[in-house]
Amino acid sequence: MAVTHYNVAVVGATGAVGRTMLDILETRRFPIAEIKALASARSAGKKVLFAGSILDVQETTPEAFEGIDIALFSAGASVSKKFAPIAAEAGAVVIDNTSQFRRDDDIPLVVPEVNRADIFKHNGIIANPNCSTIQMLVALDPIRKAAGIERLVISTYQAVSGAGASAMEEARLQCQATIEGKTVQPSIFPHPIAFNVLPHIDVFQDNGYTKEEMKMVWETRKIFGEPNLRVSATCVRVPVLTGHSEAVNVETRDKIEASKVRELLEKTPGVTVVDDPANLQYPMPMNAAGTDPVYVGRIREDLSHDKALNLWIVSDNLRKGAALNAVQIAEEWIKGE
Ligand code: A2P
Repeated sequence: MAVTHYNVAVVGATGAVGRTMLDILETRRFPIAEIKALASARSAGKKVLFAGSILDVQETTPEAFEGIDIALFSAGASVSKKFAPIAAEAGAVVIDNTSQFRRDDDIPLVVPEVNRADIFKHNGIIANPNCSTIQMLVALDPIRKAAGIERLVISTYQAVSGAGASAMEEARLQCQATIEGKTVQPSIFPHPIAFNVLPHIDVFQDNGYTKEEMKMVWETRKIFGEPNLRVSATCVRVPVLTGHSEAVNVETRDKIEASKVRELLEKTPGVTVVDDPANLQYPMPMNAAGTDPVYVGRIREDLSHDKALNLWIVSDNLRKGAALNAVQIAEEWIKGE
């Protein structure tokens, strides 16, 4: 049977996630007829590499979406707000990595390992969840299915690449300057990120939480289809280039032993268990960066609660947390229901 090939556009192709999208489309051999690399007018004429050829970056305009079958967006919420409906109207399926549409009732929010069926409910736009939420839910879904989840208490340790290519550059330059005894004014982050941690990602809300923390609440509930699930998060930026880490306390409905959780996670597609403290083996962002799995370790029962566990979950925020999950949605979409 002949494989159908698709015209694909990557919006934000010069950015940290967009470049990873191109890389993942290439290495997973996504069936592409033609590919377009789109960015802002500033980048028009720049070149990006794809599968051994050089693509000219084009400005994102309404006309750019003519004939496109699949459009992967990662150029910020305002670009998605303006262009995603235009792309969908032109006949493309949009997979949007920004927060623009994630909370809309008629727009599916998908982690394929968790709620694949929701892909097929779309009206032109499918939302890709927040990076911290994706990796957490891949690891928690088997526990939820086995024992139910009552409550989640999360602390994240998030890499600077989550804030884009310019944030990575700021972190690198600041680390270098600090070692040389110089001071540098932060521009992307509100305070120095070199040799520091910032308990502040995205904007503060009226309830005292940041929007990043509330995304973990809203998106976990939507993807699990549990609108009342109790979730509480503290999201922290750390001076790691790539790879988000999370300490997650999971209170379950039924008692489940740590050994059973380890056994379940060892069988879970997309998860790699790294949990051998005797040999100092546990997940670290340094090892996760550039790879696809969600790594889970430090699996242990909560000493203060008989139906709760602690987990340490790490994944590459640019890959499973963004570009890989988006490409997986596209792959499942073309396979069909
Ligand atoms: P550009 O490089 O032309 O600014 P990151 O998240 O790494 O900061 O990347 C953001 C991506 O979004 C880049 O590819 C950037 O392109 C793109 N982008 C930013 N503003 C716009 C815009 N107004 N229209 C289209 N793409 C944009």
